[in-house]
This record gives sequence, structure tokens and C-alpha cells, in this order.
Amino acid sequence: MSFKPANWPRKLRSQEWFGGTSKDAIYHRGWMKNQGFPADLFDGRPVIGICNTWSETTPCNAHLRDLAERVKNGVWEAGGFPLEFPVFSPSEVTLRPTAMLFRNLCAMDVEEALRGKCIDGVVLLAGCDKTTPALLMGAASVDLPAIVVSGGPMLNGHFRGERIGSGTHIRKFNEAVKAGEMTPEEFVEAEASMSRSPGSCNTMGTASTMASMAEALGMALSGNAAIPAVDSRRRVMSQITGRRIVQMVKDDLKPSDIMTKAAFENAIRTNAAIGGSTNAVIHILAMAGRVGVDITLDDWDRCGRDVPTIVNLLPSGKHLMEEFFFAGGLPVVIKRLGEYGLLNKDAITVSGGSIWDEVKDVQNWNEDVILPRDKALTQSGGIAVLRGNIAPNGAVLKPSAASPDLMVHRGRAVVFENIEDYKARVDLDDLDIDETCVMVLKNCGPRGYPGMAEVGDMALPAKLLKRGITDVVRISDARMSGTAYGTVVLHTSPEAAAGGPLAVVQDGDMIELDVPARRIHLDISDADLAARLAKWEPAVARPASGYVQLYHDHVTGAETGADFDFLVGCRGNAVARESH
Ligand code: FES
Repeated sequence: MSFKPANWPRKLRSQEWFGGTSKDAIYHRGWMKNQGFPADLFDGRPVIGICNTWSETTPCNAHLRDLAERVKNGVWEAGGFPLEFPVFSPSEVTLRPTAMLFRNLCAMDVEEALRGKCIDGVVLLAGCDKTTPALLMGAASVDLPAIVVSGGPMLNGHFRGERIGSGTHIRKFNEAVKAGEMTPEEFVEAEASMSRSPGSCNTMGTASTMASMAEALGMALSGNAAIPAVDSRRRVMSQITGRRIVQMVKDDLKPSDIMTKAAFENAIRTNAAIGGSTNAVIHILAMAGRVGVDITLDDWDRCGRDVPTIVNLLPSGKHLMEEFFFAGGLPVVIKRLGEYGLLNKDAITVSGGSIWDEVKDVQNWNEDVILPRDKALTQSGGIAVLRGNIAPNGAVLKPSAASPDLMVHRGRAVVFENIEDYKARVDLDDLDIDETCVMVLKNCGPRGYPGMAEVGDMALPAKLLKRGITDVVRISDARMSGTAYGTVVLHTSPEAAAGGPLAVVQDGDMIELDVPARRIHLDISDADLAARLAKWEPAVARPASGYVQLYHDHVTGAETGADFDFLVGCRGNAVARESH
């Protein structure tokens, strides 16, 4: 693969707004000048949008205004004209009922903003989980030159001599409280110790995973993913990205040149190597759909199967993002994939060159953080894609976060009809459950929750935790946080709310999980399953806002990325000419 830059100089898209002496041009330039911009900025130079998910209600992105200023410095230096604008900012921790419900809303906002605004290229400022895929989805559907700057992870958490990670330790401490091993007061004391600085979660959770996916796809400069949010080098990365996007506009280097099948395969293998979040499955499928690249759930299993998990970070391993950065970060991992023969080395990145050229000379500075292959956390680190009569369209499990002794298991189903049912009964003393059972949670998929919340890792019943049980097999149509862990089957499709077989699982049914065989099976006859499905009726719809109704009516299944059916594909950047 090679990229041939466009001729420069040439007339850019922004001149449709700013060029000439028409009444429209006067409107466009004149009103922009009210901000104090000199006339020569409208002379045909690249106009660079800075698409910012800054928000004080998205704490992981609350420092992005500062980074935007650094991006602007770089754009000015390279002779461009930067213009920052906000988009909807879904926060993983503060937005109800779940941020995933609003990923597509953010992607729509980004797409329409990029197409409708007077820009030639864009820097995408993202951080918290959903903001990275949403911005990339929107940008892919417009296909203007685009580049990601991630907000970067928070500094390491520390509590009573122990290094603690975002999300992962909340779960551990919550279980400790339920088991009577920690007081609620100590839990609160740990809270501030976990979030020491601006930035996204410091584990290999979904935010760090998606920043890594952006880099592995070639949509961010090499080294972007791991730099801590408050490290001075994060500001440097922002500034050089600002410089780079100006040249990308001159070269006309677009997402469709970068986000190729080869790039998506690199991202999937990278996810396996880093022990990345299961959420990446859904987001990568949705992104591939936006650029029309044929990537399916089966590609996740095919590409990830032989990839060792070599990044020793929570929740699969023990370190945090700061150590990953100090060890050399994602470029070291990508280089390793190349050495293992598991990288499409010629894939083009935002640099305009190949991904291999970006990483071939980097070094690993800590072999306890980025492990040698023979010390990998697991030799088969990819996401396992399971199928069977309970998940005809597929389900996923993350082997590196699961218990090896539960990978082949048969157990009695303990069924929760929805999240409210789970919360009401999970800790009751008379819940009929032991460690051999399989916990089943229904109606938490894209339509069912709605928004496919991160509840699939269901905290274990207190009665099991008090006995020292730390994992049981769990199955649902929900997602789980990238900071979570356990033998958890997720994204079961079709989802229960759409009448998938999960909807008719009953207490006492036997369920078989066989991860090596990629099988998940409800042990009843085909006739019984058909009879149950024939009697199934959809739940009465809850009252919904206009957007939630739109979501319910148009969201696709998890196995295709839970995008809206009408948003799949690239619609380009042409826009009707305005007439004042
Ligand atoms: Fe925002 Fe984890 S909650 S990155």
C-alpha cells in the first residue's frame, strides 16, 4: 500500500465559504471577523476544525480545552487556521442511563458538524470511552482529513501502599465491602486516591483501549495512546498533531486512505496483545461499517486467536497506564506484532507513511510491563467469539480476564429477567445459587436496557463472596466495562428484547460453556426451544424521549456494532451551498 499526496496548492473546501466577494462570502467572513481574525486568514490556507468533547460533566475530558490550545499552536505554526467547536460529550461515569445510548448521538453530531462547517480537516479531541469511537465514526462518514488526539490516562492511584486502578479497584473494593472485608468508610477513603489527576481511566479499560485502537488503526500519531494526561509530552503530542493535520489537508490524506481492512486487522490484533476491552469489538465493527470495510465478528476470532497478551496491565495483569507509557507504550506492542508476523506492516497512518516505519526502531524499557512472548499472560489473547443455540448471532468472552478453570463449564441457570430483578434479588439469602451455577441476565442489550449498559459482569451474590468465591460464569446481552474481569459471556445476540433465545432461558436450565470450542449452549431440545420462543412476547415499551425512541427503532445488533441502520456507510463532505 502506498499513499500519493495530492497536488498543492489547490482550492480547498473552506473557500466555498470564505472565497470571493459574493454576498454569502461577506456573511461568512464578516461574522467570523467579529472574533478578531485578520483578513489574510481567509486566503485559502487550510482551515482546521478542533472537534472537542470537553465538558465539566465528562470529567475524563475536562482538560481537553487546554490540549485544544496546544493543537491550535501547532496549526498556527504550520500555516493553518484553527477553529475549535464543541460536540455532545457522553461521559461513562455520569451520564444516565448509560453512555453507550448516546455514542450514536455524538457520532451524528460530529458527522453533521464536520460536513456543515467551514473546515478542510479536523483534529478529534477525545478521551472517555465513547468519545473516541463516536468521533471516529462521525469523521469516517464525512471523510475529511482527520486525526485523533487522546486526552490520556490519569496518573496511577495509590491507597494504603497499594497501587489501585480506575474501575477495577472499585469492583474489588465493592466486593470486599459485600464480603465484610472492608468498611464503607474505607471504600469512600479509597475514592479520591483512585482519581489523582485529570484524564481517563488508568487501567487498560475501554478509554485506553480505544486510544490504542485509534493509534493501531493509524488514526493518531505514533505514541499517542499512553502518554499520561498531565505529562508535558501530552501537550507536545497535541502541538505536533496540530502541525500534522495541516499537511494532511494539503496532501488530502483521508480516513478512507487509512481505515482499510489491513488497518482494522492490525487494530484487532493489537487489542488482543494489550488485553483490551470487549467494548472495542462493538466500536470497531461500527467504525468499519462507516467506511464500508468488511470486518465481522468472525474476524475478531480469526485475527486474535494466535496473538499473545503481552501487556501486563489491569484488569488482565497488574500494572497501570503510567508504567505502560514508561515502558515505551503502544509502539513497542505494534513492533512486537510485526516481529511475530502478526502485523500488516504496509498499512498507512496519519503520518503518510507505513505503520512499520513508525515503530520499527522503538525499544521496550520494562519487560515486566510489556512481556516477552514466552511470559505472555495468555498465548491466545483475542476475544473469543462464541456461538450456539443461545447465541446464534454470536457472543463474546475475554479469555485474558476470565478464570482458566471455568473456560469449559456446565452449570444450572440462575435467571434475572432484567437489571431491576438482578438488583432486587442478587444479595438475598434465599437466592438458590452456588459457585457451579451460571448467572443469566436478560434485557440489557442495545434495545433492552436501552443502550446496552456495562452490567454484564454482574457483581457476585454476597453469599458467594462471603465464602471466598470470586468468579462464576455469567451470561447476558449487556456489555461490561473494560476495567472489569471474570468469566463473562457478553453481547449475546440476538438480544432478549429482540426475541433472541436468551429471552426464554429459565431457572434450572443447564448451560454449557466451551471456550476452546467457541460454543455456548442451552441444554434443551430444539423443539422445546422453538415452543418457548413461539410463546415469547416483547415487554411493554417504557416511556421514551424522542431520541431514545429513535435509538430503539434503529439500533442494530451488537454483532454489527450497534450503530443506527441509517448511519452505516460514508456520506462524504459535500454540502448544499447556502444562500443568504
Ligand atoms: Fe471516562 Fe473511564 S470513565 S475513561
